[in-house]
Amino acid sequence: MKDPYLFQHKHILSIEQLSPADIFHIFDTATSFKEISNRPVKKVPTLKGKTIINFFFEPSTRTRLSFEIAAKRMSADTFNISASTSSAQKGETLIDTALNLEAMNPDIIIIRHGSSGAPALLTRYVNAGIINAGDGTHEHPSQALLDMMTVQEHKGTIEGLKVAIVGDIAHSRVAHSDILGFSKMGADVRVAGPATFMPPHIDTLGATVCSSVAEAITDADVVMALRIQKERQDDPLIPSLREYAQFYGINKSILRHARPDALIMHPGPINRGVEMNPDVADGSGSVILEQVTNGVAIRMALLYLIMGTQGV
Ligand code: CP
Repeated sequence: MKDPYLFQHKHILSIEQLSPADIFHIFDTATSFKEISNRPVKKVPTLKGKTIINFFFEPSTRTRLSFEIAAKRMSADTFNISASTSSAQKGETLIDTALNLEAMNPDIIIIRHGSSGAPALLTRYVNAGIINAGDGTHEHPSQALLDMMTVQEHKGTIEGLKVAIVGDIAHSRVAHSDILGFSKMGADVRVAGPATFMPPHIDTLGATVCSSVAEAITDADVVMALRIQKERQDDPLIPSLREYAQFYGINKSILRHARPDALIMHPGPINRGVEMNPDVADGSGSVILEQVTNGVAIRMALLYLIMGTQGV
């Protein structure tokens, strides 16, 4: 007899570590948690007595808040620290900070950091489960999971879909996680953007590099635009935002190449009029705010499943 499926990830560091079975299990768990957010009393006792620390070294609205809401809806005790209000400002290293957090015996530490690999480094020093909430240009796994869940809900499947990702692929951890995730789930992933925004060997992740936005989004079921990650560029890599918007911005005219029922996605925050026009971001195909809603459910699922590996 086949062994029953068991979620075995104490840490969520990347989409790379997850199998399609893991991803389907996370979707199923998130779907079962989703209705809690629509109850008059949005709280269940599932993680009562558990301690969860949100440690964000970079700004965040959606990820930080949705992890906190997810934890609170499951009755965990949550604590937020940021680089600007922590002793990192006084020169304390990441590892020393982590050891001090560990000394307070948290169950899960959620970390966003500007350095790729910082969350993986912490797993060598602490017993708590670690969730990567975005590390440098490496990965943002919970974002890709909520993106994929949103597509799965609308299309019923990810397998066989054409997914176009447009913009600053090189500096986007969201792009890396989404390319890995959608490819793993059987989608045909195409990317387009200025040459200076296209990392070498991107095709080895499973994406087809297209020479224009029109080519990337032809017959696409999903069109995702990305923010230009200025904070990860020493010098400007495009001549001007006006030209960028002209050649790579998602507008109604370019969308004529996509399927009429294409889902319009963006991980946020959006620079309206640059990577996406307001009438597209707010238009009928847009699922951008559904991505945010699903972010709470996905993060509830991750907290619950990780805690399960610790015997909850
Ligand atoms: N998508 C995303 O990571 O948004 P925040 O930076 O606001 O968390």
